[in-house]
Amino acid sequence: MADHTSPTRGSTTVGSAAPEIDVDLFSEDVLADPYPVYARIRELGPVVRLARHDVLAVGRYAEARTVLMDHTRFVSGRGVGFNDEFNSVRKSSVIASDPPRHDVLRGVLQGRLGPRSLRSAEEVITARAGELVDEMLDRGTFDAMTDLAQVFPVEVVGELIGLPVEGRSELLRWANGAFDAFGPPGERTSAGLRDIAEQFSYIRTVATRERLAPGSMGAAVYEAADAGIIPEEYCLHLLSAYLTAGMDTTVNALGAMVWLLGTHPEQYQELRTMPQQAPAVVNEVLRIEAPAQLFSRVAAEDVTVSGVPIAEGQRVAVVYASANRDERQYPDPDRFDIHRNPAGHLAFGTGLHACAGQALAKLELRAVLEAMLAKVGTVTTGEPVRKINNVLRGLRSVPTTFTPAPAATAAAGGPARGRRADA
Ligand code: HEM
Repeated sequence: MADHTSPTRGSTTVGSAAPEIDVDLFSEDVLADPYPVYARIRELGPVVRLARHDVLAVGRYAEARTVLMDHTRFVSGRGVGFNDEFNSVRKSSVIASDPPRHDVLRGVLQGRLGPRSLRSAEEVITARAGELVDEMLDRGTFDAMTDLAQVFPVEVVGELIGLPVEGRSELLRWANGAFDAFGPPGERTSAGLRDIAEQFSYIRTVATRERLAPGSMGAAVYEAADAGIIPEEYCLHLLSAYLTAGMDTTVNALGAMVWLLGTHPEQYQELRTMPQQAPAVVNEVLRIEAPAQLFSRVAAEDVTVSGVPIAEGQRVAVVYASANRDERQYPDPDRFDIHRNPAGHLAFGTGLHACAGQALAKLELRAVLEAMLAKVGTVTTGEPVRKINNVLRGLRSVPTTFTPAPAATAAAGGPARGRRADA
């Protein structure tokens, strides 16, 4: 692989003790395999200047956590992306706001995404995961991205939001674009901004309040506006938050999970003997292949992190995916290990802006994993095709083969593989 770190390794800039790295973090080859660059950033220091982007970066676990936990000095209200246009489009969103507005917006989402609210959805999610795994077993060979990972969260989250069926097929394209739009100025970012405009138009014309299912998470957003809890114009941004954050992230996590299990067959076999380990393995998947690789904050005042001064107004990239592979935090961090329980990983961020949908995402991932462990004897994956996105790490395609679990075959008396009795 090309040396993305030359030639300014270890140099410093005026007014900053941060060592500098000359690398385009959003170039196609780095996005295809960012981990060697992250390792260089961690090696260089606790805070590193990304010269090409004029931002600082925290790539180590301790400093990433420090920045995320300090939401008064590292604010989100000046945007969490890497270009001004996006940061101004998104300025009414929950992710790019500070208290008190953040807490009001978050309160509307939190009410519907907390573990208690999800308890009623759990049964449906578990049943659908089982059906989907059965469908994949029926096919035998399928694409884990297009046939499974891209199907499940769109169905689950689409139903929870109460979306009409019309237009759902475009949701992932817009969500993927919305994550591209976080990037630095450039063609990929501009295309993403156009996708956000299309997503907004879908919300205004198709997923309107009249067409959102009564009692749904989407309807609750408008009820909050009716009750005077939020101004009406924030509804668009809250629905967009569900449509963007709630789908493509989980899609990529699901794809990574199948791919990691397919490429670690001995660990898959071991895991089948200890299915109670499933929640920990979900964490390990998220740790090693963080679907959202990085966002940013802006220093609201002069501040020092691990001895490095950061000036007021400076943008700081928080690289969750690098923190999750910090050797200071996780021994042998590049190794996928089902015995590790990395509950403190930063794939969902932490602190005030920690992912509002993490209970739902974990529920979806666990449901699919448990269904696999119960029904699928072997998982084989072929050569994946990687997706290039400014923020998301994921795959476009993973050829996959499931064979039925022997016990399930026997229990079902043959090829029915333990599926529901009417299948
Ligand atoms: C595996 C799946 C997911 C991953 C990896 C993920 C990742 C993240 C991360 C890293 C953040 C923190 C942003 C920051 O620090 O500025 C975040 C925030 C957020 N996520 Fe997720 N997410 C996932 C699934 C979901 C789902 C299913 C939903 C909703 C249905 C959701 C809704 C949100 C919202 C609303 C925020 C903003 C929270 C705030 O600013 O207070 N996410 N997510």
